Amino acid sequence: MANSRWAPDSWRMKPLEQSPVYRDQAMLAETERQLAGYPPLVFAGEARKLKRALGSAAAGEAFLLQGGDCAESFGEHSADNIRDFFRVFLQMAVVMTFAAGSPIVKVGRVAGQFAKPRSSDMETVGGVALPSYRGDIVNDIDFTPEAREPDPRRQIEAYRQSAATLNLLRAFATGGYANLENAHRWMLGFVKDSPQSERYQGVADRISETLGFMRAIGLDAESNPELRQTDFYTSHEALLLGYEQALTRLDSTSGDYYATSGHMIWIGDRTRQLGGAHVEFCRGVKNPIGLKCGPSLAPDEMLRLVDALDPESEPGRLTLIVRFGADKIEAALPPLLRAAKRAGRKLLWVTDPMHGNTVKTSTGYKTRPTDRIAAEVRDFFAICAAEGVHAGGVHLEMTGKNVTECTGGARAISETDLRDRYHTYCDPRLNAEQSIELAFTIADLLKAQRLAQPERPVRAAE
Ligand code: PEP
Ligand code: CO
Repeated sequence: MANSRWAPDSWRMKPLEQSPVYRDQAMLAETERQLAGYPPLVFAGEARKLKRALGSAAAGEAFLLQGGDCAESFGEHSADNIRDFFRVFLQMAVVMTFAAGSPIVKVGRVAGQFAKPRSSDMETVGGVALPSYRGDIVNDIDFTPEAREPDPRRQIEAYRQSAATLNLLRAFATGGYANLENAHRWMLGFVKDSPQSERYQGVADRISETLGFMRAIGLDAESNPELRQTDFYTSHEALLLGYEQALTRLDSTSGDYYATSGHMIWIGDRTRQLGGAHVEFCRGVKNPIGLKCGPSLAPDEMLRLVDALDPESEPGRLTLIVRFGADKIEAALPPLLRAAKRAGRKLLWVTDPMHGNTVKTSTGYKTRPTDRIAAEVRDFFAICAAEGVHAGGVHLEMTGKNVTECTGGARAISETDLRDRYHTYCDPRLNAEQSIELAFTIADLLKAQRLAQPERPVRAAE
């Protein structure tokens, strides 16, 4: 497979999983043609910069924080939501940077995370069967025949929303909002009187003190852009391949193809078949690629996927996002780490502690207990340490909103609390407070990982 000719549309000759059935094929073709004429959302040079940053994470010199909604939605699109998400993300990154003493690579599941794989093509409620909801880019979540009909025009709306979201995120990242001097102001109102708030204020105080010292010796945000802006990247699952193909462009600088729908794209656990359409599409674009690895992935199959997706062993090209569940990681992860090591592969290993820890309550809510999430993260670090591999990042489903979707946390959200603010369009997300709490847990683990490493020279962030 690796040697056969690749083209942006060569995936169309391969078996395709998780594809919506569009009734109006002419409308689909017209939509894809229209999208193909739209400007790219991201530039190839940015994707290359992210690849370098991920390469340094694979080398043990940085850590990836990747997170956002399970599914973005048209209904929840607002400046406030984007700002609140970005704030919490910055807070988490600051907490982790302090502990790790090395750069945190910031990648949102945002500005394009619209398409969802489903375990079943149909959903049955009260004896009525309708097509499953596949994300706002495909159909509507309402349980009516009209809403569930896949509509190609939704791809145009997803593109528009991605562009608007990205525009605001770029402004926040570079226009002063992310200035470290604002670290105290990132605290969200509803988190203010929580234990996390106090801990966070402690970190923010230390940052202020450090910045005061730096100013005193002549280093300030005016002359040092690193202090007043940050690199923030976007990512999503490359699931809806017609949309991805329409936004795939030839980069004139390098002569390579890039997916310009986001900086990084990943292949989901349900669509990672060797020889399948999703692997075929992703192998040919030069972006950083993520591969979700669930419990059914055997080590030799993983190695074949690694060969297909990263034939040149390029640093930062491939991120393995392992999502086993707190009860399975101990058995499942070591064989993958060892197989990669035996094959001489230095990859970026990242834990997704969300997707293996989903449970259903007796009242019918899909939830995730935060203690299981934290347990999987801890086990991930412990196993990586035991195997001599750098624990390179976390991949989270989270929001800046005060939702009640995952149980536990300092405010001890119970199963009966879930109905209060259960807003997700797909999987349960950590709310702002739970996210910051987890960031502190990760910070402790990062500190321990740093202290266990031999001393290395301090390098400036890219
Ligand atoms: C997801 O990230 O929302 C998802 C569906 O994950 P996975 O492919 O790992 O199941
Ligand atoms: Co999800």
